[in-house]
Amino acid sequence: MSLRYVTTNEGKVREALEYLDDDVTQLDYDYTEVQAEDLETVAAHGAREAFVHAGEPVIVDDAGLFIDDLDGFPGPYSSYVEDTLGVERVGRLAREEGTLDAQFRCVIAYCDGEEFAATPEPVDRGERRGQDLAADARGSATTDAQVAGGDVPVKLFTGAVPGTIVEPRGDGGFGYDPIFEHGGKTLAEMSAEEKNAISHRGRALAKFAEWFAER
Ligand code: IMP
Repeated sequence: MSLRYVTTNEGKVREALEYLDDDVTQLDYDYTEVQAEDLETVAAHGAREAFVHAGEPVIVDDAGLFIDDLDGFPGPYSSYVEDTLGVERVGRLAREEGTLDAQFRCVIAYCDGEEFAATPEPVDRGERRGQDLAADARGSATTDAQVAGGDVPVKLFTGAVPGTIVEPRGDGGFGYDPIFEHGGKTLAEMSAEEKNAISHRGRALAKFAEWFAER
């Protein structure tokens, strides 16, 4: 069984292929993005749901911009804040507050229905009990899919890239790239190759690929 990258974004699969020796294909499946204060919960939930749907090994990623002195804002809400406030206003807000240190973080969640050790990377053991209790409270039984997904372990891999919030520069990339500077350039001033070589997603993919090759 081959590995499926669960995403609606083909570009992410192309990036992953560089780390995974042609060993991954896209699964265009729209899993539920739960609301949570950390990327790990969102990615783990998505991986469980996608695995129950596909019955094959899956990876799901979740990423965001974390501004240190704004308590990690916008973090897991990065996409929503990009659509509502907009990237330039987030940049202005950070600069007005004098809070310039930030990082992009990415979490990759892997699920194949099997157990794995919690080292070197963490494992999310699921929320079956929580789901059962929630279902009891509603007076309904959990569905097979919820039960199957609820206690399936998910292995997590994290990548981060540190940077500084600056006035927007460059017209490449997407999202917060123009206001995020790393090594003297904003990510929007880098070529795709330059960005992939240092990106949070690249770093998480590299960790995952090393572990997956041993599995
Ligand atoms: P996703 O989980 O990869 O879809 O990322 C969620 C949101 O985080 C995106 O909609 C962007 O707002 C932001 N984001 C994630 N990765 C990047 C990046 O590499 N550059 C700029 N913005 C990003």
